[in-house]
Amino acid sequence: METILITTVTVTAFTGILAFLLTLADRTIANYGEMKIVINDDKEYIVDGGNTLLAALIDEKIFIPSACGGKGTCGYCKVKILEGGGPVLPTELPWLTEEELKDKVRLSCQCKIKEDMRIEIPEELFNVREYQVTVESIEDMTPVIKKLRLRFKEGEEISFKPGQYIQLKAPIYEGNDEEVYRAYSIASPPSEKSYIDLIIGYVPGGIATTYVHKHLKVGDTVDINGPYGDFCYQDKYDNEMILVAVGTGMAPILSILYHMKDQDIKRKARFYFGARTPEDLFLLDELKEFEKALYDFEFIPTLSRALDEHNWTGARGRVNVLLDEHIKNPDDKEAYLCGSPAMIDTVVEVLKEKGILEEHIYYDKF
Ligand SMILES: Cc1cc2nc3c(=O)[nH]c(=O)nc-3n(C[C@H](O)[C@H](O)[C@H](O)COP(=O)(O)OP(=O)(O)OC[C@H]3O[C@@H](n4cnc5c(N)ncnc54)[C@H](O)[C@@H]3O)c2cc1C
Ligand code: FES
Repeated sequence: METILITTVTVTAFTGILAFLLTLADRTIANYGEMKIVINDDKEYIVDGGNTLLAALIDEKIFIPSACGGKGTCGYCKVKILEGGGPVLPTELPWLTEEELKDKVRLSCQCKIKEDMRIEIPEELFNVREYQVTVESIEDMTPVIKKLRLRFKEGEEISFKPGQYIQLKAPIYEGNDEEVYRAYSIASPPSEKSYIDLIIGYVPGGIATTYVHKHLKVGDTVDINGPYGDFCYQDKYDNEMILVAVGTGMAPILSILYHMKDQDIKRKARFYFGARTPEDLFLLDELKEFEKALYDFEFIPTLSRALDEHNWTGARGRVNVLLDEHIKNPDDKEAYLCGSPAMIDTVVEVLKEKGILEEHIYYDKF
């Protein structure tokens, strides 16, 4: 028994020391020198080897979406590595489908540059820019949700599609010793290019949301980059739209509604919004205005925890149950969903059962 214990301890200690030495060697001794990255068989960049592909691209001002700051936990930083990526790592596997693996899709935050690379990224990522914006206003929407207006510098503007998001940098602050980027959907009209509105919920202990809710002040400057995302208004259809959101998921839906108003789009649209109590509802006046201004629009909030003393006369229960009751005819509709992964998964099931084609259901989970 004693021999087994001593052997186990020795082997564990040995592998631990070996892993430490390898990491140290990779960081200090390994000098990969300069490497060439060719993007879309068109643009060439010379970068320092040893860095992650994501970090190297950011240094070249090419911003790949990343919602977890390169930790390999969001799956957003996908690029195609046609040559030079090395073997797929175990940390990438949970995020890549069979199809993507065949197509040489990789997580750029996990791949280190150890040789020349040939990669492919969507052309629109070359339009993503970095901005320093000023906080013009911060408004409380609910006790845990704030709306920020961020103003671009004189002469700068942003072009985005309704539904897209930006990444906001949370800097180092007391209690947080790392800079992180987090994704936030744009809530303002795409026609307004000199500012963007964001709607940000507080996550207890969350790095970026603690920064926004507890440290950020009007007049401060913030670094953002964007726009990103393919969750956006589709203008190839004119059938009925089902919009569904919970909490801060309202943000991209608002941008879509502003766009429909600005462009005078004549489509029937119903917006189902799930909340717990009346305290969790916000921007009710703006949503009433849309009911007047849009062609055929109705805002339908539903409360899952309304008590008698709330005197709530609207819909009750979860948003998926409400949709099940409301969607009667199986003709095809288009659905835009935004909110928690659990809400989206259950709503997608309901919509599919109602006959809405999967390719007409668009969503951003967060
Ligand atoms: C495309 C996209 C668009 C987004 N748009 C918005 C938006 O418009 N408004 C908005 O508020 N957020 C939005 N998010 C979420 C946002 O990017 C951050 O994930 C969120 O604000 C938490 O960041 P944090 O740094 O404060 O928390 P972190 O420091 O990243 O997390 C701290 C801890 O909280 C957990 N956690 C993270 N998020 C939640 C959550 N929502 N509920 C419970 N636990 C959580 C984490 O797992 C971790 O354990 C969006 C995300 C994506 C991917
Ligand atoms: S940046 Fe999140 S997985 Fe790569």
